[in-house]
Amino acid sequence: MPELNLAPQYLCDSAALQECGDAVTFEVLEWGQVAPAFAVRYDNVALAYLNRCAHVPTEMDWQPGKFWDLDKRFIICAVHGALYDPPNGLCVSGPCHGAHLVAIDLREENGQVCWYPSERFQPLF
Ligand code: FES
Repeated sequence: MPELNLAPQYLCDSAALQECGDAVTFEVLEWGQVAPAFAVRYDNVALAYLNRCAHVPTEMDWQPGKFWDLDKRFIICAVHGALYDPPNGLCVSGPCHGAHLVAIDLREENGQVCWYPSERFQPLF
């Protein structure tokens, strides 16, 4: 079994994540398979989730990096309109009501945003 890499993975500078702005997209290995992910800022907190709707496991952005609804209050899936509460990824409206996005541990320190690998999520390289 390959050794786990648990070192923080630099994603972007803090300034790249604007409040309810475009997402910074990236990829992780989830159980060894490449999976798309995204990071956004909401309420001045940087958050990351797999780019995978809880309804149908498909990417949610209507254009690359565009994850906000018109009011910039919810993360929206462009396929059938599920709305997710940004801080916890809970679907509050839509066909997967009550289900969650899959969170990725993201932390911000000294002007940098890093994601933290786990047994489930490993860096590609
Ligand atoms: S695939 Fe996202 S709401 Fe249906």
